[in-house]
Amino acid sequence: MKMTPALLIIGALMVFWASSFIIVGIPSLTMKETPSEIWRPLSAEEEAGHKLYVKNGCSYCHSLFIRINDWDIGAERIAQAGDYVGVEPAILGSERTGPDLSEDGGEHPDDWHMAHFMNPRYTSPISLMPSWEFLGKREIEQLTAYVQALGGKGADQRVARQRKWKALAVAAYNAGPDQNVEWIHSQVPEVWRHMPNPYPASEAALQRGKRIYQDFCINCHGPIGDGRGPAAKNVFPPPLNFTTLRRHLVDNKYIGGIFYYQIMNGITGTGMPYFKKHLESEKIWDLANYLGVFFVGYTDANLDPKGIDASFEPEWRNPYPPPAVNEK
Ligand code: HEC
Ligand code: HEC
Repeated sequence: MKMTPALLIIGALMVFWASSFIIVGIPSLTMKETPSEIWRPLSAEEEAGHKLYVKNGCSYCHSLFIRINDWDIGAERIAQAGDYVGVEPAILGSERTGPDLSEDGGEHPDDWHMAHFMNPRYTSPISLMPSWEFLGKREIEQLTAYVQALGGKGADQRVARQRKWKALAVAAYNAGPDQNVEWIHSQVPEVWRHMPNPYPASEAALQRGKRIYQDFCINCHGPIGDGRGPAAKNVFPPPLNFTTLRRHLVDNKYIGGIFYYQIMNGITGTGMPYFKKHLESEKIWDLANYLGVFFVGYTDANLDPKGIDASFEPEWRNPYPPPAVNEK
């Protein structure tokens, strides 16, 4: 067969038609408009937030669907066609400069989102997400309502949990600073409350801790750990002041395990996020030593040396001995 311009055009059209049929035709013919088990309609407020999401190009950096190959980045559920019934336009996005948001509802309380939209650097110091302060408070509320609805009925459950724990956290905060810390510590399981930091607070560990603190924590807890970073005015209860914690060591000695547990899991209902998906275990212990040495003035590191990591444990004697028994 001789290749002529007409044949070339017909061939190109056939390839185009066949691929359109496979990519667009088959899915739209076989897709059912049946709602999935988590689907629920959006409220007017959430709908307004969805419009803002589309209008402001959030999808240039965020996707709204989780794929099978996302199990290894901590997915909880794979997206289904029925999740998107009635969403117009359903922009799924393929860029992930930021995280996927399809199940983001209830990951954080509302005040965290308000602070984050005002200035993402408040909550996530090295974030490159733009500030949306120019939208004004009303539209930021609508965006927050939309983001909290992502994940449908599953998100509603998580949001309800955030609200329940927020009420408890606010009550504890209002009871006074010491009662607040006692309450926060009482949430930590017993075995963690008596666990010293297994890694020495070596010079390198403290340098690592400092760097990680600057990248993730500084704009809430502040450069001197007093809880007065620029985000403090946007989250309530405000970020914890570490400098008073010396009064609250468990059995007058332990704090490392409490720090580790809180940093790993976050504190539901408060602005304190979990970092289990962002930071490896050693980095969390480094942070615990950094908070201890620089803000509390005490670390329980190597109180009970276990030699858990010979290759990285220098000979190190803790220059911060446990405080005298009645120093409380
Ligand atoms: C230039 C890229 C970019 C754009 C545009 C962008 N984001 Fe982000 N977003 C990010 C990055 C990066 C993160 C992760 C760091 C952080 O928390 O800020 C993020 C985080 C988030 C989070 C927090 C997710 C979590 O649970 O930790 C939400 C919610 C969010 N973005 C919503 C939005 C919305 C709504 C818009 C549009 C109004 C938007 N983003 C526009 C990059 C972007
Ligand atoms: C968005 C603001 C925010 C960010 C970011 C943040 N925190 Fe917090 N943090 C809080 C709030 C709020 C509390 C609890 C305050 C309360 O309920 O009184 C808290 C509590 C804590 C506690 C509990 C202390 C105790 O004695 O029980 C630790 C530890 C902690 N934060 C460490 C960190 C570390 C380390 C980082 C960075 C990796 C970090 N936080 C990032 C807001 C934040």
